Amino acid sequence: MASTEGVRKVLVLDFGGQYAQLIARRVRECRVYSELIPYDTPVEQIRAANPAGLILSGGPRSVNEPDAPTLDPLVFELGVPVLGICYGLQLMAKLKGGRVGRLESAEYGGATVSVVERGRLFEGLPADMACWMSHGDSVLEAPAGFVVTAQSDLLPVAAMEDREAGIYGVQFHPEVRHTAYGQELLKNFLYRICDIAPTWTPVSIIEEAVRRIQAEVGGERIVCGLSGGVDSAVAALLTYKAVGDQLTCIFVDHGFMRKNEGEEVEATFRRHFHVPLIHVRAKERFLSKLAGVTEPERKRKIIGEEFIRTFEEESRKLGKARFLVQGTLYSDVIESGTREAAKIKSHHNVGGLPEDVDFDLVEPLRMLFKDEVRVVGAELGLPESIVWRQPFPGPGLAIRIIGEVDEERLQILQEADFVLLDEIKRAGLYRQIWQSFAVLPAIRSVGVMGDERTYAYPIVVRAVTSDDAMTADWARLPHDLLERISNRIINEVPGVNRVVLDISSKPPSTIEWE
Ligand code: XMP
Repeated sequence: MASTEGVRKVLVLDFGGQYAQLIARRVRECRVYSELIPYDTPVEQIRAANPAGLILSGGPRSVNEPDAPTLDPLVFELGVPVLGICYGLQLMAKLKGGRVGRLESAEYGGATVSVVERGRLFEGLPADMACWMSHGDSVLEAPAGFVVTAQSDLLPVAAMEDREAGIYGVQFHPEVRHTAYGQELLKNFLYRICDIAPTWTPVSIIEEAVRRIQAEVGGERIVCGLSGGVDSAVAALLTYKAVGDQLTCIFVDHGFMRKNEGEEVEATFRRHFHVPLIHVRAKERFLSKLAGVTEPERKRKIIGEEFIRTFEEESRKLGKARFLVQGTLYSDVIESGTREAAKIKSHHNVGGLPEDVDFDLVEPLRMLFKDEVRVVGAELGLPESIVWRQPFPGPGLAIRIIGEVDEERLQILQEADFVLLDEIKRAGLYRQIWQSFAVLPAIRSVGVMGDERTYAYPIVVRAVTSDDAMTADWARLPHDLLERISNRIINEVPGVNRVVLDISSKPPSTIEWE
């Protein structure tokens, strides 16, 4: 758990449900700070974190299985209100002496739930509500001392509570949008039952982060690798706000950024924020290292390695810095315990940590989700072009140039990519699409321009929709937009005579080509 003294928080105990993370996000949307913790976190640790409320998430198991995840019953004795959702409800029913079992069938999808006893949880909500259900077991009988507060055609106990003890439970999922008044129900729990005020705002996040950075860094020097993306930008600005000129940002520009992007990042930071910044223009260095290299993993390794060496050289010139700012997000923190996926590509996070460099880490975004980072970035005054920038791989355009990377091919791709993004933006699709970019394959084809035969490169248009880059689908771009993209690229970019569209999803393809 993060040390967030002074911030009133709600802890979500994760029983493995698919919506556990979503619960934490919904609570945060109510402007209440929330963290996800493992269901078996020792009760003393929970007490020490001083939560203002606890939520038990759903989970895939049955509470009647012998080794099903359970809860230390002392959690109910902490004097902190508890809301159980789905498995959380069933577990509290079982632990308190109620009966949990199978009804005739499992229930997945929408259902109407009727409030039979309003209480504080359902205050101000309609008597009948459309709710989202996703459960195998159900509470058949509420424990003694509990009042059934809602039912449905199928469920004798759709919600129950022991008001005296501050224990509440619902079978449906208030965190899912299909539950019409789910957010209102969560607000009732947070504001009325836990008595928390909605004070966790972008301004308070910034103030808290600044205080923490100041406490961590003291009077020491600190460096930050800027990448042009929103995470490293927000991390840098928060740090600058905290420790001013003790921070130096190092922007290693490998030359594989999009057209004009390197200069734009520099201008933004110098003009608007006056952040001390070293802009290392290292295109020649990276190009020479990549000469003759065509194998994708080798390219990635070389760029990653060269990046680290450049970063080290620059930070050494500054004298010894003790700290390094890192843009780690909360989703990385949550995932890091379980991330065992097979390595498909060796990712290189340019804004991130050179692994073998000796720094203490400062991670101001450790407790924030990506969308929260964007809100904080906007509040700090970052321009939209950075706040809403589509994800961009660390090795940049070098892994979108198939085969050898050289100056000529880099320029072709930069120009084509610029036209493509310009058209996507004009069509108002830039934010809706997860990523949209051009790829330059290592083949040429015959065309005719004017009366001349051409033998030139094609450009591949790649545009995908996605929630998290783990899976993706190709974006159905309107045909007239594709026509404009194709016409403009062929007319405006010398060296290109054909445009093709990538219509593959991930899996089995990946988003990038290398
Ligand atoms: P793939 O191609 O594996 O990409 O489907 C998934 C997401 O990761 C981005 N990507 C990277 N991001 N450093 C990064 O920070 C990298 O080396 C890197 N390689 C790919 C890619 O753009 C997509 O969003």
